[in-house]
Amino acid sequence: MKVNVESNENILGTLVLPLWQGSDSISDNASSGIHRDLRNQIDNVLQAGDFKAKSGTAMTLAGTQGGKAILVGLGKQEDANSQSMREAGAKIVSSRSKMHGTTLSVRLHGIEDSLMASLVEGMILRDYSYDHYKSKDEEEEEEGDLEVLVTCEEDKTKALSASAELSCSVAKGVFMARDLGNAPPNDLYPQAYAKQALDFADKHDNLEVTVISYDQAVDMGMGGLVGVGMGSIRKPCMVIFELNGDKPGPSPCIVGKGITFDTGGISIKPSPSMDEMKYDMHGSATSFGTIVALAESGWKERVVAVSCMAENMPSANAQRPGDVIKTYSGKTVEVLNTDAEGRLVLSDGLWYAGTHLNTSYIIDLATLTGACVVALGHEASGLWSNDDELLAKIKAAGEHCGEIAWPMPLFKAFEKEMTDSKIADTRNLGAGRWGGSNTAAAFLKQFVPEKDGKQIPWAHLDIAGTAWGAKTNKLVKNGATGIHVRTLHHLITGQ
Ligand code: BES
Ligand code: ZN
Ligand code: ZN
Repeated sequence: MKVNVESNENILGTLVLPLWQGSDSISDNASSGIHRDLRNQIDNVLQAGDFKAKSGTAMTLAGTQGGKAILVGLGKQEDANSQSMREAGAKIVSSRSKMHGTTLSVRLHGIEDSLMASLVEGMILRDYSYDHYKSKDEEEEEEGDLEVLVTCEEDKTKALSASAELSCSVAKGVFMARDLGNAPPNDLYPQAYAKQALDFADKHDNLEVTVISYDQAVDMGMGGLVGVGMGSIRKPCMVIFELNGDKPGPSPCIVGKGITFDTGGISIKPSPSMDEMKYDMHGSATSFGTIVALAESGWKERVVAVSCMAENMPSANAQRPGDVIKTYSGKTVEVLNTDAEGRLVLSDGLWYAGTHLNTSYIIDLATLTGACVVALGHEASGLWSNDDELLAKIKAAGEHCGEIAWPMPLFKAFEKEMTDSKIADTRNLGAGRWGGSNTAAAFLKQFVPEKDGKQIPWAHLDIAGTAWGAKTNKLVKNGATGIHVRTLHHLITGQ
């Protein structure tokens, strides 16, 4: 989407008119330049109460001499917040059809600065679809990018233009994460992800990407990554991103679970919805997407990311329930269920990050447990941390972006449960199924290294319920959401 912010009264293409609930006419400053016929039609509709401008609603007007219009409900002015405005922006894009053309003129007058910025952000984020694998007819080919002309008060154009530009940059990271998440698992396997990362780094001088290959992972003793990935002919790898490596650390580090397909392995999953396990790499999609967002928005400080890539397949060479593996940390794990694989690859990623990458804090993201979806539904990611300050900052950043991260407990009892294997240092399965997302987090904590006698500040985001499939996420049509790219960009940059 191309966004231009101006203060003139030009209308190009379809007029888009966001309205507060209860408006019975167009405000004077929003109405300039609108053809009389269209203006009459709008006023008639509003005065008759045919469009009440409730939030989540939109109406198309057409058939007059004066051109076409989309009316969009902003809901009650006193209830407006950044998320309701993002959703109204998204509604504009989802209401647009071929008849409206690809040029929209959005009138934003008498709306507070940050709310305007959120509406534009919502438009940008909703303007995404994954159609790489769809054949297109000629007409569809012709439909180009959306062009949006936003008009607002003269003294607000500069700030709105800057925020729209930032939203576009960050959206590139969100869309990269969605593209990776949506990609089919026959095409997006660990090495394919690594290649995309290397290709992206080739185009950015301030980004270095290093790939730890399967053979190197074996030599280095990364038993978690190797154990999960060895059953597939598409071998696992670890992908390390370093942005602005010439700047001093310690730096934020994002670690992502990247299971390009999770069959469960020998502890195989049931068939229904198994296709959704292509999204099991969304943690790594978010880590890559965050790096893209930072690179595109021109962030100048050092940030690192680690993606733990593997395909979890059953085969003659797959790991078995009962195996004991030795992770990169030196700690052993009794693998009681091969479907609890995310924590195994992350154990190596976390240890590598904490011991090699000069980190100030580590945040991992993983579609880790069905239990997290049971606890929080699709409305929030679970958030665990060994550091209250980091937890508070992530929670606040999530709230700011409308990507809720909800605090969950790291009780000692959970750690005990995960470290009481009869024959190894840890076990990858809780003693029962209760609190499954908490025991998973407690397992991960065992693999966060210490620095100067204290465990590195670390947080874990379980995105199993938020990475895809949330019907209430109005900023996404379907498929991968790109969850937390914006949260992390905001957390790291403050922007
Ligand atoms: N990738 C799944 C978790 C998942 C399931 C995410 C459904 C989103 C939707 C993970 O690898 C897994 O299978 N976890 C098991 C853990 C269990 C065996 C302890 C689970 O949640 O059932
Ligand atoms: Zn699994
Ligand atoms: Zn998984």
